[in-house]
Amino acid sequence: MDYAATTPILPEISQAMIRCLSVDGDFGNPASQSHHYGWDAAKNITTSRKHVADLIHAKPQEIIWTSGATESNNLAIKGALDAYKYKNKHIITSKIEHKAVLDTCAELESLGFQVTYLQPELGTGVIRPKQVKQAIQPNTVLISLMMVNNEIGTLTDIQAIGLLAHQHQILFHVDAAQAAGKKAIDVQAMQIDLLSLSAHKIYGPKGIGALYVRQDIQKHIKTQIHGGGHEQGLRSGTLATHQIVGMGEACRLAKLALRDEQKRIQHLRNKLLQGLQALTPVNLNGHATQHVANYLNVSFLGEQADAILFAIKQVAAVSSGSACNSHHATSSHVLNALGHNEKLAANTVRFSFGIYTTQEHLETLLNHLVMVLKENKVASQLSFV
Ligand SMILES: Cc1ncc(COP(=O)(O)O)c(C=O)c1O
Repeated sequence: MDYAATTPILPEISQAMIRCLSVDGDFGNPASQSHHYGWDAAKNITTSRKHVADLIHAKPQEIIWTSGATESNNLAIKGALDAYKYKNKHIITSKIEHKAVLDTCAELESLGFQVTYLQPELGTGVIRPKQVKQAIQPNTVLISLMMVNNEIGTLTDIQAIGLLAHQHQILFHVDAAQAAGKKAIDVQAMQIDLLSLSAHKIYGPKGIGALYVRQDIQKHIKTQIHGGGHEQGLRSGTLATHQIVGMGEACRLAKLALRDEQKRIQHLRNKLLQGLQALTPVNLNGHATQHVANYLNVSFLGEQADAILFAIKQVAAVSSGSACNSHHATSSHVLNALGHNEKLAANTVRFSFGIYTTQEHLETLLNHLVMVLKENKVASQLSFV
């Protein structure tokens, strides 16, 4: 139950990747344009680029391959801001972004840029378009916000903010690493200029992602990795055909499965939340309706909280925050921004669901909790006697 951290590669995707590795497959360098090895590899890249573009309603030439959403976020933010080097320019983001955005913004602050970190609504994590509007200054050049929060699953009203950004001629970057495959994305209708994607959140391989860069702003984004001028000159380096094919297939399948899978997952999420609420007092972190179904983030309240946390970790692979933060001892910056104190943050679990999560998994977990709570009750009655 930790699909937000990463997902396994689907068998049909790994098969497609394997076909691009060895001498009996399309192993060539897609930049080699003098023989069929290169042409065959390039054909795979073209097909994959189209699959990624189709998932977000973009044009294939607007897809720039990267090593993942971390690099996409870096390229989007630094690439957009580098054009204004050493000028007193302003960025708007929020306190609950992924570290790949927050650390990049902190780096830019150290170079003299101004950053406004919007405070989300306490408890729900919602960032309202009105707040974004109030934060706009005459020198604002970029708004960078995530579509779906990776810890609590709260959705941002991207379309309303895209409209605002364009009314003020501000570039709009969206980190959609956790939204792809879970929420329909239309970069045109949502007026997005830059959008980050990652394959390993949607049953593709790790180490590959993409940045959508709207065609008419490509010349304004400053390259961060120089080399052979690949990817419209925006990101050089030999294209990793097998990784790209993996991402293309993941996007193709994500688009096909989106609606039905979301319905199934919403049902599972409701079941687990109701099951937990029936057992013990819990606090739901995130918005009750403005969310995607794949996340359930709860803090356990009351005397049994420690026992419950321990019991969950005995039978389920869950996390207390994002995987990127879990090696740090400090509590999650997202929960802090939601208004949680250290104790409540420590009693928090993020469940995240995916293709292989079944009703039986939830029943196993809930039955285990019932048993542990019963044992605890008996133990406390015995010690009372
Ligand atoms: C919202 C968000 N942005 C960016 C990233 C980083 O993605 P990647 O692992 O592809 O670098 C993640 C991964 O956890 C994420 O959840």
